[in-house]
Amino acid sequence: MPTETVYGLAGLALNEDALARIFAAKDRPTFDPLIVHVARPEGWLSGERFDWLAFLAESKLVDVARLDSRAKERVQALTSLWPGPLTLVLPKQSAVPDLATSGLPTVAIRAPRHPVAQSLLRAVDQPLAAPSANRFGRISPTSAADVRAELGDRIELILDGGSCEIGLESTVVQVAENGDVTLLRPGAVDRDTIERLIGAAVVMPTERTSSESQQAQPSPGLLASHYAPVKPLFLLPAPAANLSQDQFAAVRKLLGNHSGVGVLLYSGEPTTAWTKLTPLVTDAPRMSLIVRSLSSLGDANEAARNLFRKLRELDAHPAVQIILAEPPPDEIGLGHAIADRLRRASGGNSGS
Ligand code: TXA
Ligand code: MG
Repeated sequence: MPTETVYGLAGLALNEDALARIFAAKDRPTFDPLIVHVARPEGWLSGERFDWLAFLAESKLVDVARLDSRAKERVQALTSLWPGPLTLVLPKQSAVPDLATSGLPTVAIRAPRHPVAQSLLRAVDQPLAAPSANRFGRISPTSAADVRAELGDRIELILDGGSCEIGLESTVVQVAENGDVTLLRPGAVDRDTIERLIGAAVVMPTERTSSESQQAQPSPGLLASHYAPVKPLFLLPAPAANLSQDQFAAVRKLLGNHSGVGVLLYSGEPTTAWTKLTPLVTDAPRMSLIVRSLSSLGDANEAARNLFRKLRELDAHPAVQIILAEPPPDEIGLGHAIADRLRRASGGNSGS
């Protein structure tokens, strides 16, 4: 199923067999819970205000009684962004199978704004669990062709809704029973927007959890290594123009004997890579650079949209042995989400 963020592998959220098939197709460990997708019922398509919280209670998804008044207010404020790229983690009702939530007392819910996702949800008239349609730990798909490459031999149907408008997975935010709001995964809805809506500071999770652990994670989306290419990826410690001689020397060491280097620039035309990385390629006559740029003008929306596709291209390129990625110039707005995904793709490998 296409969504505005990434493609999802959809199954009936309240049906255990469907959920089990999602985990099997993805090779996903059952400690990683799914996101449940919903749409406003027909008849609510126009501008009228919709009471999402009442709808989630009636749909047997959210246990609203466990939310105090401050929590309810904040959920109401945050659902003003629905449909859109925001997932809310809320207390669950018992009708939601443990398999969907990995036994957690909470359930993650999102109302996608992609018209095909909405049509599908209205057609089945039930919530759909949908993790990103990639094999576990791999790069999320942003086109139907990506889904085919990831899962083509394991699923029966792909709804082609074109390439994803945002290209990064949704922002995941937990609203606790007492109203505390935690940002579990950065995305297109940024921290400032959330804080403005709730009129308070959000809590940032402090610790990254280890993928070694088999227990349900506070948010498995926080696994340090996730969204990773198959080939080793190193994240440059700063945009290429700001790298010191020492930093270049450290990166050069990291490259070892590899001569086919994939370079993922954040900005600039691909041809600028040789100039940007001069200290790296000087005295390395055998080194070849295979370059992609996320956005020639450094536009964050364009960079986000291109990130996973260009990572996939470098990962699949036969001449590329190792990938160097340039971070965005700052971690404001989408820059935060892009830097987050690059760090995870690097599995903690940094050229610093
Ligand atoms: O944009 C998206 O969110 C896409 C599209 C398809 O909607 N879906 C997606 O799903 O990215 P997935 O399964 O790849 O990521 C879901 C994230 C996981 O990191 C999961 O741990 C977190 O949401 N999550 C789900 N339920 C949770 C819960 N009860 N508590 C904390 N985190 C939860
Ligand atoms: Mg995923």
